[in-house]
Amino acid sequence: MLDISSTQLIVGFVVLFISWLYMNVRRPSGMPPGPTPYPITGSMSVLMGNDPPQRAMKEMSKVYGDIFSIKVGSYWSVVLNTYELVQEALLTKVNDFSGRPPSFIFDWYTDGQKDIAVANPTPTWKYHRLLAHTSIRKFAAGEYLDNLHDEIRPELSKFIMSKMEKPFDPNEFIVPAIYYVIGSMCFGYKYELNDPRLVKYVDIAKKLNDSFDNGWTGDFIPWFKYIPNPYFYAFKKIGEAMFSYVLKEVKLHTDKFDPDAPANDLIDLLLKAQADAEAQGGVDEKKKLTDTHLKQIIIDLFTAGIDTQNTVLHWAIGCLADNPEVQDKIKQEIDDVIGDRPPRLSDRGKLPYTEATLMEVMRYRTPVPLALTHRAITDSSIGSYKVPEDTWVFINLWALHNDPKYWDNPDKFRPERFLDAKNAVKQRLPSFLPFSTGRRVCVGESLAKANSFMIFSWLVQNYKFVKPEDTKGPVAVHDKPRILTFAKDYKVKVELWK
Ligand code: HEM
Repeated sequence: MLDISSTQLIVGFVVLFISWLYMNVRRPSGMPPGPTPYPITGSMSVLMGNDPPQRAMKEMSKVYGDIFSIKVGSYWSVVLNTYELVQEALLTKVNDFSGRPPSFIFDWYTDGQKDIAVANPTPTWKYHRLLAHTSIRKFAAGEYLDNLHDEIRPELSKFIMSKMEKPFDPNEFIVPAIYYVIGSMCFGYKYELNDPRLVKYVDIAKKLNDSFDNGWTGDFIPWFKYIPNPYFYAFKKIGEAMFSYVLKEVKLHTDKFDPDAPANDLIDLLLKAQADAEAQGGVDEKKKLTDTHLKQIIIDLFTAGIDTQNTVLHWAIGCLADNPEVQDKIKQEIDDVIGDRPPRLSDRGKLPYTEATLMEVMRYRTPVPLALTHRAITDSSIGSYKVPEDTWVFINLWALHNDPKYWDNPDKFRPERFLDAKNAVKQRLPSFLPFSTGRRVCVGESLAKANSFMIFSWLVQNYKFVKPEDTKGPVAVHDKPRILTFAKDYKVKVELWK
């Protein structure tokens, strides 16, 4: 009797285990094809390995097709590798894929999705996006940005001139320059280049990036979050430092806030929106803007706005040092069109080769190669395949930017590809979406373009970046893959134009 029960128990266990295994790896019917997932981890190694996931995904598309599915830990996902598929998913079906995946770590970091980038689309989120967008457009416009750059240039010049002798790391001036602009926009300060408030933030942001690395297993396999993990505690500690940094600024603004005075910075604008909504007699979901929301919006804009632009300019300087003929052409264009006076925002459109070079940097080194992960918020389809609700969607922007159907010799750095026969910047380019598209398109696109143009054109107008004699191969090469495409630290020499 005992023997039979033991056998039954074992058989029962084996049957259960096989059924669980089958269910765990079984692809839902109608989904695009893809590799058979490993039990539990699925194809998580594609995202967390040492090879850039965007390249691995492009390679997989050669086997399974331009749209394929993979299981990332516990979550079924589809990967889109062409412009046509991305257009269908993000523009034709503009709402269907506008969600974000659940994330234990980001839920904590955003006080339960009270931000913009991680939050799922709700009326409150829509209102916050609109507020952020309107404020950013205000600061990305003419005089405000022109004045900020006028303020920072003397200090930047002094710093760069002090580096004439020896090769140095261009991040030493790119990072504070970007912080200066975004910091002034958010907090309204006039900083020194090495202002302790900026230095402190740079330190927090770097530690935050390092501790996030390229994701946390608990976000892919939910039960993993119950296992105590030093990674999460390290992230939390540095996340709390970021909260207290921003909250301190919000408090300073709240204490001296005058709803009738003109808004001097982003926090003032948000406080004004808060006061207006309250004055209109109560706040419904569509106009909800608590102090926590306010903190989260500022953190989002400050974080998303700084690292992305740093990355683009860091690659840009490396590309100039590696392609001196491009640098000479930009300098010639600037000399011909604006001469010695500092560039203004209104010069955009008059310097097509300069703009084309920045666009080529964003194509060639796609700063956010997989955008931010999307999620289907309803049962839907892409191409001829079903995409069930809650499927994650990876937008392979890097694959779009390297698609030979649209880009001749995509591995070559060639700004001319962005110019038409009349030497004007091509408009509405297909397969070029560095800021993504659709409902979750980057909120800071206008500011990023304007600000990069202002810094980059002024730098090349005044300085020549040269590869050090002892550097073999290209100056700027890829660092370990992360959410952003970082270049490894490198050094360049800087000279004055003769
Ligand atoms: C060259 C610089 C930048 C690049 C290449 C870039 C690119 C992107 C990309 C690809 C996304 C993901 C869109 C998606 O999920 O489909 C994104 C989202 C976002 N970006 Fe940017 N970005 C840049 C600069 C900025 C700046 C300057 C700000 C703000 C000051 C900003 C704020 C945001 C925010 C808040 C989101 C989340 C939008 C949402 O989820 O609805 N970005 N960005």
